Amino acid sequence: MGRIYPSTSFLNVLFFLFYFSPVALSQTQTETMNNLSKNLTGRIPWTGSDPCAWKGVSCHPANSSVVGISLYGFSLNSSDFLPLVCKIKTLEILDVSNNHLSSIHDDFITECGKIKGLKLLNFSNNNLGVLPTFHGFDALESLDMSFNAMRGTIDLQIDGLVSLKILNLSFNGFSGSLPTKLGKSMVLQHLLLSSNSFDGKIPDELLSNENLTWIDLKNNILSHSIPTNIGKLSKLETLVLSTNYLTGEIPTSLANITKLSRFAANQNYFTGSIPSGITKYLTSLDLSYNTLSGAIPEDFLSPQQLQVVELSNNKLNGSLPTKVSPNLFRLRFGSNQLSGNIPSDAFVELHDLTFLELDNNILMGSIPAELSSCKSLTLLNLAQNRLSGVLPQQLGSLTNLYVLKLQLNNLSGAIPTQIGQLSKLLTLNLSRNSLSGPIPPDIANLSTLNFLYLQGNKLNGSIPTSIGMLNDLLELQLGENHLGGVIPSMPLSLQVSLNLSSNNFSGSIPTSFGRLRSLEILDLSNNSFSGGIPDYLTGMPALTRLILSNNPLSGAIPNFSHHIYVEYFGTNLKNNTAQKNPTANTGSKNRISIAVAILIGSVAATFLGGFVTLLVVLNLYL
Ligand SMILES: *[C@@H]1O[C@H](CO)[C@@H](O)[C@H](O)[C@H]1NC(C)=O
Ligand SMILES: *[C@@H]1O[C@H](CO)[C@@H](O)[C@H](O)[C@H]1NC(C)=O
Ligand SMILES: *[C@@H]1O[C@H](CO)[C@@H](O)[C@H](O)[C@H]1NC(C)=O
Ligand SMILES: *[C@@H]1O[C@H](CO)[C@@H](O)[C@H](O)[C@H]1NC(C)=O
Ligand SMILES: *[C@@H]1O[C@H](CO)[C@@H](O)[C@H](O)[C@H]1NC(C)=O
Ligand SMILES: *[C@@H]1O[C@H](CO)[C@@H](O)[C@H](O)[C@H]1NC(C)=O
Ligand SMILES: *[C@@H]1O[C@H](CO)[C@@H](O)[C@H](O)[C@H]1NC(C)=O
Ligand SMILES: *[C@@H]1O[C@H](CO)[C@@H](O)[C@H](O)[C@H]1NC(C)=O
Ligand SMILES: *[C@@H]1O[C@H](CO)[C@@H](O)[C@H](O)[C@H]1NC(C)=O
Ligand SMILES: *[C@@H]1O[C@H](CO)[C@@H](O)[C@H](O)[C@H]1NC(C)=O
Ligand SMILES: *[C@@H]1O[C@H](CO)[C@@H](O)[C@H](O)[C@H]1NC(C)=O
Ligand SMILES: *[C@@H]1O[C@H](CO)[C@@H](O)[C@H](O)[C@H]1NC(C)=O
Repeated sequence: MGRIYPSTSFLNVLFFLFYFSPVALSQTQTETMNNLSKNLTGRIPWTGSDPCAWKGVSCHPANSSVVGISLYGFSLNSSDFLPLVCKIKTLEILDVSNNHLSSIHDDFITECGKIKGLKLLNFSNNNLGVLPTFHGFDALESLDMSFNAMRGTIDLQIDGLVSLKILNLSFNGFSGSLPTKLGKSMVLQHLLLSSNSFDGKIPDELLSNENLTWIDLKNNILSHSIPTNIGKLSKLETLVLSTNYLTGEIPTSLANITKLSRFAANQNYFTGSIPSGITKYLTSLDLSYNTLSGAIPEDFLSPQQLQVVELSNNKLNGSLPTKVSPNLFRLRFGSNQLSGNIPSDAFVELHDLTFLELDNNILMGSIPAELSSCKSLTLLNLAQNRLSGVLPQQLGSLTNLYVLKLQLNNLSGAIPTQIGQLSKLLTLNLSRNSLSGPIPPDIANLSTLNFLYLQGNKLNGSIPTSIGMLNDLLELQLGENHLGGVIPSMPLSLQVSLNLSSNNFSGSIPTSFGRLRSLEILDLSNNSFSGGIPDYLTGMPALTRLILSNNPLSGAIPNFSHHIYVEYFGTNLKNNTAQKNPTANTGSKNRISIAVAILIGSVAATFLGGFVTLLVVLNLYL
């Protein structure tokens, strides 16, 4: 045996040399490539004597014929070179994506159509305005003309492509009905027509393409209902119908497609209930933003392969399913009419669960402490329900949380000190509950927090001095509580707003506010602040709105720059500069327009802040 090895490897080497030693390109191909190179002089950096070594050129290893040309992203704005390419009779792949081509020469269609082995044409991301009518191209399997500016209707342009398996015409301006003539031999597998202006119904003829595995019709103006027998597309793996005007019920036949893994039909006008068994084979389902009603089927969340379920913004009612697959990653049920409790035994040990949104329903009872076993959660939104009871301290173990929203419920008791363990938190919204007791100093451990909303509770005591350590805080809402005592130095990062209104604060307005150089809105209204307005408040460069109403403040209002709106009714403050209009806040046109400007400003600021959070969250999951 030992002696056989060397000779075998010797044969292997010979074999290798024979097949893979560089064979020179045929003279004709070399000349053609040189002609092409000349034609593209100054546009493509092709140098050297061996075309197979040029950037983007691939040659067959055995006989050294050119099989692929990729001119990706060279800012080419003229397609006059294309007919030259067709002289490469061995070409299999032509990629001219990411250029500025605005037309395809007729000669290209005629000449390249004759190439026997041409399999892939990629014209994605150019400025093409017209879809050419293809003749020949007998071997063409993939045609990518996405991200162009093609308009008009599609009739027979594609039908001649007898081997076509992949058609991508997404992100163009096509209109009229969806094309049905998609290659006479019906071997199409991927049909991507998203982000066009196709209208009318999804034609039954489409269902004759039984080899379809991927259909993406997202973002068109399709209407009517989905053909009920869509289930006969038995090889379908991905079906995306999002953002159209589709109506009617979700066909039950979809539940029969064993290969179907992703179904998205969000942002349409579907009605009726969720067909039972729809999730049997799916990994991802998005039916959010429709008008689906009725109860969620009991077995809906139990299939083990299920990962993503989005049903928000429908009219679903009844209670939450109690059997939940341990592999769920994202669950969004917000803005429905779901009632009953959050089942404590359902949302346990879901180790992959990363997004859980049940907000804006009519859920009752308490927040199950068991939720704390879903350690991957980054977003937990239970806001705007009828949840009551205490905030379980166990939630402190959800240390991956970025966003915790529990506002607009009736949670009571103290904010647990364990909240300080949520060290990745960006947004904490506990506003409008019945929380009492002091703000725990541990909140200062939330060192990346951007938004803290605690308004509308029954919190008392003083604001912990540690709050000044929240160096990324942009907005602090503490209004409508029973807070008092000494106001500590606030984080210098504050920008969107600092709201201490409707509390029990007294004494003079703290001088430390003057250092909040980015702060746009300061609301101190409905407290017992006394004394005058300190001059340094006039030096806050970003301030647009200062709300001081209903405080026993007195003295003259210092000279604020005119873009700052000062609200001071219910105080003894005097506007000395107002000679003709001594009464405070006698509404004037001027003030209203400033208020509008301020509103726009603060909306923009909030948007910016929200955008930062969104970016972080998106970055993580998309
Ligand atoms: C290359 O270009 C020359 C001059 O235009 C032409 O005569 C020749 O036929 C071309 N060669 C090939 C292989 O296309
Ligand atoms: C490139 O070839 C085309 C013909 O295919 C011709 O019309 C064009 O003038 C040529 N351009 C250059 C720069 O040689
Ligand atoms: C090169 O070899 C491949 C694979 O053997 C073959 O398909 C192709 O036709 C050959 N090309 C030429 C020009 O001989
Ligand atoms: C096409 O690109 C060339 C440079 O590559 C430039 O000189 C020419 O102005 C461009 N033409 C158009 C119509 O943009
Ligand atoms: C076409 O090229 C783009 C890159 O410009 C690429 O993303 C896309 O996958 C290609 N299409 C096909 C069908 O290979
Ligand atoms: C067009 O669709 C095909 C098939 O799904 C895909 O491979 C290709 O990447 C898409 N093109 C772009 C630019 O995304
Ligand atoms: C579908 O694909 C199979 C193999 O992938 C092929 O045999 C069949 O001819 C194709 N066309 C139709 C219409 O089924
Ligand atoms: C689903 O498949 C079963 C078995 O093939 C069949 O009896 C049933 O009619 C199908 N249901 C729908 C809605 O197509
Ligand atoms: C759910 O809504 C339907 C009407 O869509 C109603 O008939 C049914 O009683 C409701 N069920 C519950 C539990 O509220
Ligand atoms: C909120 O809960 C408290 C008990 O903690 C109860 O007294 C109060 O009525 C509840 N409020 C609402 C609106 O349900
Ligand atoms: C926080 O809750 C309040 C309701 O109390 C709501 O108005 C606000 O939009 C919420 N903000 C965020 C970022 O959740
Ligand atoms: C004081 O009055 C002047 C003149 O009417 C006005 O321009 C200014 O905005 C007022 N200042 C405040 C703080 O309202």
